[in-house]
Amino acid sequence: MTKKSYNLSVAAVEKTTEDCTIVTLDVPQDIRSEFAYQQGQYLTLIADINGESVRRSYSLCSSPLDDAWQVGIKQIPEGKFSTYANQQLKAGDTLEVLPPNGTFFVPVAPDQARNYAAFAAGSGITPILSIIKTHLQAEPKATFKLFYVNQTVNSIILKEELEGLKNQFMERLEIFYFLTREQRSVPLFNGRPDAEKLEIIFKTICDVDQIDHYFSCGPEPMVLLIRDFLLNKKVPKDRIHFELFNTGGAPVKRKEIAEKFSGKVSDVTILEGGITTNFKIAQGSDNLLDAAMKNNADLPYACKGGVCCTCRAKLIEGEVETLVNYGLEEEEIKAGYILTCQALPISEKVVVDFDV
Ligand code: FES
Repeated sequence: MTKKSYNLSVAAVEKTTEDCTIVTLDVPQDIRSEFAYQQGQYLTLIADINGESVRRSYSLCSSPLDDAWQVGIKQIPEGKFSTYANQQLKAGDTLEVLPPNGTFFVPVAPDQARNYAAFAAGSGITPILSIIKTHLQAEPKATFKLFYVNQTVNSIILKEELEGLKNQFMERLEIFYFLTREQRSVPLFNGRPDAEKLEIIFKTICDVDQIDHYFSCGPEPMVLLIRDFLLNKKVPKDRIHFELFNTGGAPVKRKEIAEKFSGKVSDVTILEGGITTNFKIAQGSDNLLDAAMKNNADLPYACKGGVCCTCRAKLIEGEVETLVNYGLEEEEIKAGYILTCQALPISEKVVVDFDV
C-alpha cells in the first residue's frame, strides 16, 4: 500500500557547508510512532515547486536516540528539490513527508564489542553519521573507523558534528579524511580511495578480519568498488551494507531491451490500494512505475534508481527485465518481488500487485 504522507513543519534550516543544508522537521507527538526510525534510514520529502509536485529521498543524519528528525540536502546542479531546499526553504514552511524507510542499517547490539568501518563521500555522510552516533552511544564497546572523501577541507559536510563525536568518543572513533582537490602531506589521503589505496588501508589501518560490519554510502563507482573489494577479501555479503546516491541507471541495457522486444505490446495491470490500473505499452519501452503513473496510477516511489525499494511490488503474472537492483534481497526476488522503477514489461500480459 502507498504509505500515508504527513504535513510536517520545518523547525530549522541550517547550512553545514556552502551547498549543503540540514533541515530539521518538527514531528508532532501523536505521529511519532509512525516516524520512529532506525539509524541509516531516509525520509521522502514532497514539495510543490513552481507548480510541480517534486519528491526526493534524503537520509536522516540525526540518530533515533536524539529524538530528532534531521536530513542533509546537498545542492546538486539543476536539482529541483535540492536547489529549493538550499535556496528557498525556511523555518516555519511545511513539507509533505513520507515516514522513514530503508534497509541501510544493522540492529544495535549493546552487549557486543563490535568493530565497524564506514566509507562515505560527500553527502553520503548523512546516513553514516546517524549510524556512527547510534552505535557508539548504544554500544559501549563498539569502535568505528570512518573513511570520508570530500573535495576540500571547506566542503566537508557535517565536519563539526563529526569532530564533536570524535571528541566525545576519542578512544572509539577514528576519522580519516580524503581530499580530492587539495593536497595533504600523506599521499594516501589525496584523491578518492581506489583499489591500490584500499589495499594499503587494509594493510595498515584496518584489519579485514577484525571488522564486524562495513557501511558505505556515496556515488555508485566508489560504493561498488568497496563492495567488490571486500567480497574479494571474503567478507560475507551480509556484513557489507551500502546505500547509493545518484545512481546512473542503465541506459545501454535499456536500449538493448527496447530493441529486442520492439514491435511487441504488453497488456499491463497494476493493483494498488484496491484500485486497478490497466494499460497497453510497447514491450521494453518504459518501466512499470513510470508507465503506470502516466496512466494516472498513484504509486509509491522515491529514488527511482533501484536502491530504496519504495516501489517494490509483486509480479503476479508475466515477465519483466530488470535494469538495476541494489535493494531487493535474493529471497525477495525468488518470491516474485520486483522494483517497478527498474522493471520493463516483456511479455504479452503483466500483472503487478503493490498490496502483497
Ligand atoms: S523508487 Fe527506489 S527502488 Fe524504485
